[in-house]
Amino acid sequence: MKFFVDTADTDAIAELNDLGMVDGVTTNPSLILKSGRDILEVTKEICEMVAGPVSAEVVATEADDMIAEGRKLAEIAPNIAVKVPLTWAGLKACKVISGEGHMVNVTLCFSANQALLAAKAGATFISPFIGRLDDLNLDGMDLISDIRQIYDNYDFKTEILAASIRSANHMSQAALIGADVATAPPNVIKAMASHVLTDKGLDAFLKDWAKTGQKIL
Ligand code: G3P
Repeated sequence: MKFFVDTADTDAIAELNDLGMVDGVTTNPSLILKSGRDILEVTKEICEMVAGPVSAEVVATEADDMIAEGRKLAEIAPNIAVKVPLTWAGLKACKVISGEGHMVNVTLCFSANQALLAAKAGATFISPFIGRLDDLNLDGMDLISDIRQIYDNYDFKTEILAASIRSANHMSQAALIGADVATAPPNVIKAMASHVLTDKGLDAFLKDWAKTGQKIL
């Protein structure tokens, strides 16, 4: 499973990128707000740091305006994936922008039917939002499973990009189901390294080591 980092924080991206943990980056208007940076400037900087796809989201709601915004965002760098919302207008924009040879990430997907439409419209990525379904006492992972089955049934090439990931468990569950990509905030990716038994075991080893009175260096 590929790891995308869901942030516009360039320091956080750089830290994970140095560890080889970053296959791409996703941003959205809320993350641009959080960064406090200009969208074109920060997105360009991220595209220069990361070799993989960098999603940048349109904010227009009509197809023609989305297409114009998408073209402008795509000019930033060759690794831009234009992000459009899963509305009828967004599907129209997806068809046109992907037809022009750009990657398109169709976001705000909450149903298998929406994912089916995005694949038909030529989406490079479909972004089902797990956490926001869980927030409603639904199971976001069921949606990932359903989309996996539908895409496999018909050999759709659209990649499933599990989004709105809130916990390390979401990452392993998405990987078990076979999501192609998961995008997560930096703190969630770091949390994947934590285990209480690792901490406990390390503590015991260090205590015993101290008793040996030895040094390695
Ligand atoms: O990838 C989508 C993500 O940014 C939304 O996450 O936690 O706001 O639902 P969240």
